[in-house]
Amino acid sequence: MKFFIDTANLNDIKEAYDLGILDGVTTNPSLMAKEGITGKENILAHYKSICDIVPGDVSAEVISTDFEGMIKEAEELVKIAPNIVVKIPMIKEGIKAIKYLSDKGIKTNCTLVFSTGQALLAAKAGATYVSPFIGRLDDISEDGLELIAKIRQIYDNYTFDTQILAASIRHTMHIIGCAEIGADVVTSPLKPILGLLKHPLTDIGLEKFLADYKKGNA
Ligand code: G3P
Repeated sequence: MKFFIDTANLNDIKEAYDLGILDGVTTNPSLMAKEGITGKENILAHYKSICDIVPGDVSAEVISTDFEGMIKEAEELVKIAPNIVVKIPMIKEGIKAIKYLSDKGIKTNCTLVFSTGQALLAAKAGATYVSPFIGRLDDISEDGLELIAKIRQIYDNYTFDTQILAASIRHTMHIIGCAEIGADVVTSPLKPILGLLKHPLTDIGLEKFLADYKKGNA
């Protein structure tokens, strides 16, 4: 399973990359705004800074909602770096844009996916990644991980190449659940990724090993 980080914060991206386990980055307009990155030129420059840190796939989201606008934005975005993936919303015009871009060999990430039907259409259109938002489903008492499992089954039935990129991750159990189901990618904020490291018995065990070493080498 690939690990992507879901943020536009350069410090968090560097920290995850330095761990040696980071395969890519996802961003969205809300994450950009959270970092105070506004204005087209600043946003494009920020994508470049992210691509300079991480060699893996970096999702950059379009803000147009019409086919022509999405394609124009996509063409600008892919000029930033070879690892840019164009993130496109799951709407009718978005599906057309994904099909057009995938036919041209441009990588796409179909975002704002909340159902198996949407995931099926994204795969049919040739999306490189499909992004089901599991945390936001949990927020409204629907089971986000169950959606990942159903998409996994559908894609495996037909050997679609589209990679399931589980998004809207809120905690470590989302990451572990996705790994158990067989999601191709999880995109998570830094905190749940670092949360995977933790176990109290590890800390207690290490403390004892170091104390015993000190005793024997006093
Ligand atoms: O990048 C899209 C997605 O991961 C957003 O997550 O926490 O805003 O639901 P969240």
